[in-house]
Amino acid sequence: MCGIVGYLGDRQAYEILIKGLKRLEYRGYDSAGVAMIRNGNFSLFKCKGKVSDLEETVGMSDHSGNIGMGHTRWATHGPPNDINAHPHLSNDGSLVLIHNGIIENYAPLKAELINRGHEFKSDTDTEVLVHFIEDIRDKTGANLFEAVRIALSEVIGAYAIVVMDKSNPQQLIAARKSSPLVIGVGKDNEFFVASDATPIIEYTRNVVYLEDEEIAKLDRTEGMKIVTISNQHKTPYIQELEMKLEAIEKGGYDSFMLKEIHEQPRSIMDSIRGRMNVGTGSVRMSGVDDHADRWRNASRILIVACGTSWHAGLVAEYLLEEFARIPVEVEYASEFRYRNPVIMPSDVVIAISQSGETADTLAAIELAKDKGAFIFGVCNVVGSSIARATHSGAYTHAGPEIGVASTKAFTAQVSVLYLLALSVAVHRGVMKGERLNRLMVEMNSIPDKIAEVLKTNDAVKAIAEQYKDSTNALYLGRGYTFPVALEGALKLKEISYIHAEGYPAAEMKHGPIALIDEAMPVFVIATHGASYEKVVSNIQEVKARKGKIISIVTEGDKIVKELSDYAIEIPKCDDSLVPLIAVVPLQLLSYHVAVMRGCNVDQPRNLAKSVTVE
Ligand code: F6R
Repeated sequence: MCGIVGYLGDRQAYEILIKGLKRLEYRGYDSAGVAMIRNGNFSLFKCKGKVSDLEETVGMSDHSGNIGMGHTRWATHGPPNDINAHPHLSNDGSLVLIHNGIIENYAPLKAELINRGHEFKSDTDTEVLVHFIEDIRDKTGANLFEAVRIALSEVIGAYAIVVMDKSNPQQLIAARKSSPLVIGVGKDNEFFVASDATPIIEYTRNVVYLEDEEIAKLDRTEGMKIVTISNQHKTPYIQELEMKLEAIEKGGYDSFMLKEIHEQPRSIMDSIRGRMNVGTGSVRMSGVDDHADRWRNASRILIVACGTSWHAGLVAEYLLEEFARIPVEVEYASEFRYRNPVIMPSDVVIAISQSGETADTLAAIELAKDKGAFIFGVCNVVGSSIARATHSGAYTHAGPEIGVASTKAFTAQVSVLYLLALSVAVHRGVMKGERLNRLMVEMNSIPDKIAEVLKTNDAVKAIAEQYKDSTNALYLGRGYTFPVALEGALKLKEISYIHAEGYPAAEMKHGPIALIDEAMPVFVIATHGASYEKVVSNIQEVKARKGKIISIVTEGDKIVKELSDYAIEIPKCDDSLVPLIAVVPLQLLSYHVAVMRGCNVDQPRNLAKSVTVE
């Protein structure tokens, strides 16, 4: 969702802002804009479309200045157009502001400001906020820093903002609540501001993550000062970034998605490294070990997540119930938070989120926390809001995921949840010895097995060629492969815009079977395991209605291969680990179909990487 970049220093701001906005493109957006201060005036450019369209809009116009802000907007209030794009000016044009989030009480504020003579140009809640700040400044005589603080204390909603005053080219103000904001600290009071660290790391590794309800004054002469909305002074905590620049570049691949699919052998290794010792037969998850009583005495586990992370949660449900023998419920965070759920203090809640910023998941956590449950986070982004809101947790260590469609984050989540399930099972005394050791050995072999699966790329591409013009697709799985069917279908629909549904294979006959004809590709995960024979029967049901079968099978399989129009073989592994390798050909398939259909795989239409609004 919306991306924010700000700069204050000796360099030319425009180049830094444009490069930073391009780094944030992956978040998803529909318009872009920049504003710099030059000779006591704003040079402000904005337009609907991509950052490249913005560059064309700026063209040869003077865009010099050592202070500025840039924004990519994902429309919430009002359609994506030039006027609604950020930055927005205050009524008298003295202030300019960019914003990520939603100001929920913008309507009464706007009505009051109109009564006081303000005129608005856009449909946005953001324009209301900058007018409101100006109004407070003019009414109270406060300086900008204080006016922002007072305004935010009256605002309901979520925000990350950057504000500047054209008469003060020495100062940027930045603030956040429920939307991320990072400040990069350079030498000699040089500052960078961004929605995440990706626009900052090539300039400095020293960063401050703003906390909720904190406002930062960044000043060329005074340095950095942070206060809370309730006016308490905070000492900025500067930390060093570990992220590498290569991690956020394409590294020779055509897209981030393809790079991230191919990174999976390494990213899974990074997720499990140091957390299990096959030699000693031990699993070490500090987030479980340090709170062993909560896990041992838990009456049930609730998992809250959205999208692909929810699919990882479904795999975890099967794993935790099988290994740790504890009841598990998996909930869409957006449903959970609004349906008055029964939450008990003896519950353990696992919140899964790649970005760690998903608004619905964050709200579900707060709800469960209020009811006394113990919250465990599984996040990829270090220092993210969800990582900070939970009682304990485990990072997935997949590295930055830039492609909007989640790939390596999913397999990293499942890997961490796998170890979590083993660890909880050990703590509850229901798993030990030979079985534990065998599963750990199997888990350890998964990165190599994924490297094998990646070699099927050409075969998968040939299948994509056959089905790229389909209008519908069905994905079937059973047991551990049912969540994989859901994830395969989600990947196809989100990047190729082909309608696809994932179903438990046996459920097909209760409805979706009506859709089957010779034009319907049915992707079936039919690996050897507990449900193999049952899935074979489901395949027969599709064949009887002339549906096309594309199967994912265990190497050496004969029965399903014979029934299939196309089959992809994957290495043998324990049933419980099949999701990790079976999902890879489905990721590749979606990728190739989308490329063949001319779609932008890294930035699919309408989607945002980090969904910070509910
Ligand atoms: C799909 C996808 C989304 C996210 C969902 C949750 O490829 O990426 O469905 O999984 O928006 O995001 P996180 O995991 O950041 O909470």
